[in-house]
Amino acid sequence: MKSIVILISGRGSNMEAIFNAALPLEIRAVVSNRPAAKGLESAAQRGVPAIGLDHKAFTSRETFDAQLAKTIDQFAPDFIVLAGFMRVLSADFIAHYPNRIINIHPSLLPSFPGLHTHENALKAGVKIHGATVHFVTPELDHGPIIIQAGVPVQQDDGPASLAARVLACEHQIYPQALRWLCEDRVELVDGVVRIRGLHVLEGYEALPLLVPTP
Ligand code: GRF
Repeated sequence: MKSIVILISGRGSNMEAIFNAALPLEIRAVVSNRPAAKGLESAAQRGVPAIGLDHKAFTSRETFDAQLAKTIDQFAPDFIVLAGFMRVLSADFIAHYPNRIINIHPSLLPSFPGLHTHENALKAGVKIHGATVHFVTPELDHGPIIIQAGVPVQQDDGPASLAARVLACEHQIYPQALRWLCEDRVELVDGVVRIRGLHVLEGYEALPLLVPTP
């Protein structure tokens, strides 16, 4: 069975979705760079080691990342799952876990990397927004895409209403991506992800895109 360590910074609703999906994987620990993160309490209540590692106690990104790697490595996970982890990771940290760090980003990458994705999507006037689960590479929010969900933008959307609908999709696609990883079905071919045994993603053949239900 595959194992993961989840990294969070805040409320941890994606982490909750992963716990609740009852995936065939072992969640060995949850680590937050913010010791007061709500998600840590909930992980501890589930009996999972919940560790606060305050980035403010470190003098540089590199020293924090080195301690983070040391903390994670005690649990020897197959994958490191970023679930609302709001820190840029150093190239050394990423190189330590090649193709083993997964992230969720609230936009249809490569559109709208970085922060304020919902505001930026509304300003750009896109009609389809969404969320992406991808492998982490040194270029921020640009690694190989495992799964995406599209969310139609409504005329009266504001950042909060759009964020809420995107978040609901995040909670579906993150467990799905992890399930494929657990089943060893995710392969990388020339930097592009292919899911073994999956030919058509339902909902992907016509616009507007919907959450796939493979
Ligand atoms: C999510 O929208 C995630 O995609 C983004 O930050 C938010 C975290 O939410 N990176 P939560 O902590 O999982 O509730």
